[in-house]
Amino acid sequence: MTKIFNISSDATETDKIKEAAGIILKNGTVAFPTETVYGLGANGLNEEAVKKVFTAKGRPSDNPLILHIADRQMLNDLVKEIPVNAILLIDKYWPGPLTLVFKKSKLIPDIITAGLDTVAIRMPSNNVALRLIQESKVPIAAPSANISGRPSTTKAQHVIDDLNGKVDGIIVSDDSTIGVESTVLDVSESIPILLRPGGITIEQLESVIGQVLVDKGIMHETEIVQAKSPGMKYKHYAPKAPLKIIKGDTPLVIKKINEISKEYQSQGKKVGVLATEDTKQSYYKDNIVISMGERSRPETVMLRLFDCLREFDKYNVDIILAEGFSEKGLELTISNRLNKAAGFDITEIE
Ligand code: TXA
Ligand code: MG
Repeated sequence: MTKIFNISSDATETDKIKEAAGIILKNGTVAFPTETVYGLGANGLNEEAVKKVFTAKGRPSDNPLILHIADRQMLNDLVKEIPVNAILLIDKYWPGPLTLVFKKSKLIPDIITAGLDTVAIRMPSNNVALRLIQESKVPIAAPSANISGRPSTTKAQHVIDDLNGKVDGIIVSDDSTIGVESTVLDVSESIPILLRPGGITIEQLESVIGQVLVDKGIMHETEIVQAKSPGMKYKHYAPKAPLKIIKGDTPLVIKKINEISKEYQSQGKKVGVLATEDTKQSYYKDNIVISMGERSRPETVMLRLFDCLREFDKYNVDIILAEGFSEKGLELTISNRLNKAAGFDITEIE
């Protein structure tokens, strides 16, 4: 049985938060909101608790988890050292959508790090998440609260769809305000390495700490590169129907998507188009056209991306044709998630 807790975004329901924290302390599992996506939490210092997270999600055990903390004091016990780059970034971006990878301390169970000698840590800014961690008094291990391989969950309903009956508690609260998972940066190396782009861009990181390297796994299929972040090698964010990305100048992309969709329709197939506010009127009306947001405001696209992918499942489309994005600023984050959802099926139009 999954207990549902309705908690408002200002987290004033102390009794309910204490009850949910009680589940964490008894080594159970509780899904909770964060500003990025909902997480599936468990006591990060207890192996049995963390095992339940892997089981509920169907997550491969060689993919390590992020520990969520509520204050800087908690960080000291979990890591071997805090490099200067980390201090600068913590001052600027914590609490917030930035996960930092440190050399781990002896306190961290191997199951958290999948045997690596580093640990990923983040301090979320969502009040409900912070209160839950404070009341639990332990770091909370939490991957995104979706079935492994499916799009991450940005609304409580997504979490209920994926995990009701599989976890001990679900905190139902407001939608995520960022919409994609945190930026992951490895600060354990002398030149930090971006392992996953998120709501904080590489440009923002570089303005605080100077040069940042980019792991090849971010924009390429990881069968061909050795993934430093193990999570990169798995199928991710996939809607039920295959997704194809068409990339290039917008008028050419519209023309190409209309051409391809005509072909599919002549085979009796139902076509979904993942469009933007700017272009949604330009596609055939008998397609299922869903707009992610405004191309000139990528944060609006990021916010709705996973919800849109889940929308297509409801319409039972046979194929999804998506407009591509660039690799600059927040568009790198959008491209990274879309490319993975498409299994790197990308057509570039010259
Ligand atoms: O926004 C987020 O980060 C959300 C919310 C719930 O906080 N959590 C999340 O967790 O996205 P998850 O497990 O879905 O993604 C964690 C990513 C994976 O790609 C994993 O491989 C990487 O972080 N990771 C974790 N520990 C690592 C480590 N020690 N070294 C390198 N990568 C690590
Ligand atoms: Mg995930």
